[in-house]
Amino acid sequence: MSVLVIGATGQLGQDLLRVYGDEAVPLGHGDLDVGDGVAVAARLRETKPDWVLNTAAFHRVDDCELNPTLSFAVNALGAANVARAAAEVGAGVVFFSTDYVYGGVGRERGRPHAEGDPPDPLNVYGVSKWAGEQLVAQANPRHLVVRTAGLYGTATSRKGWTFPELMVNKARTDGKLKVVTDQALSPTNTADLAATVKALTDRDAAGLFHLTNEGECSWHEFASATVELAGIDIEVEPTVSTPAPRKARRPPYSALTSERLVRVGVPPLRPWREALADYLRAKGLAA
Ligand SMILES: NC(=O)c1ccc[n+]([C@@H]2O[C@H](COP(=O)([O-])OP(=O)(O)OC[C@H]3O[C@@H](n4cnc5c(N)ncnc54)[C@H](OP(=O)(O)O)[C@@H]3O)[C@@H](O)[C@H]2O)c1
Repeated sequence: MSVLVIGATGQLGQDLLRVYGDEAVPLGHGDLDVGDGVAVAARLRETKPDWVLNTAAFHRVDDCELNPTLSFAVNALGAANVARAAAEVGAGVVFFSTDYVYGGVGRERGRPHAEGDPPDPLNVYGVSKWAGEQLVAQANPRHLVVRTAGLYGTATSRKGWTFPELMVNKARTDGKLKVVTDQALSPTNTADLAATVKALTDRDAAGLFHLTNEGECSWHEFASATVELAGIDIEVEPTVSTPAPRKARRPPYSALTSERLVRVGVPPLRPWREALADYLRAKGLAA
């Protein structure tokens, strides 16, 4: 089996390359821009992969609000270019979407969002990804749409840090941290995500899947677990988010769960705290 990984220099892309090993062909942003439909089609005709894993995204959420054109060019139309070109060569496509397709209600909702729950995005990023999901499904019957959340991986993203790394560094240098309690999510280790994506492509699964580490936490709980597992003895100060003009609204509650994984015989990802502990060990940040 051969697998083309688009966005191969990213944090998820790096773990996908590792998990697929010799089967994977990496493509960085410099090799291919998903917004260029002609180039995407030509590249897929040349490589004829069995699967295309499209991790490319414009995901700086506040910048998406200021630049919806670019957001849709990459997250929706770019996703469609890849899905259509994959269909033309008989390849399956995996599109990575986001928990930010959800948003309206807080933790009082009482249960995480499963695949059957209708999206209600609060920001341009979420709307563009939701549009991407639909364009991908329409362009290629052999599609996997994977909604995931709060990614961190050992191949640190282009931002230069992951959330847990940032928390450890700030806690060590400033001796204090202040993190919001009013946004909850299901943080996810990209190594676990990549392994589950491989299990799905190995089974030739299709459709929409929510893939996150199990459980949920607020960003404050995520930060508190991180410093505790890193052996740093500080209390993380709770705070609440303050909406700022021209910035994207964040969902108060975007925790995900999967009702579909079990139906295709793939085990759920492990609980988020275990996955975080492993990540901190791998980065040499654990106590
Ligand atoms: N990070 C999260 O917390 C999170 C949460 C939910 C969903 N997701 C989704 O998960 C996927 C992977 O995220 P990630 O954290 O691994 O992102 P990442 O580290 O930023 O990697 C994204 C990759 O895509 C490339 N890229 C960007 N624009 C492109 C374009 N127009 N054409 C081709 N390649 C392009 C980037 O290259 P350059 O850096 O060189 O531009 C980078 O290699 C994305 O689809 C994202 O929307 C992420």
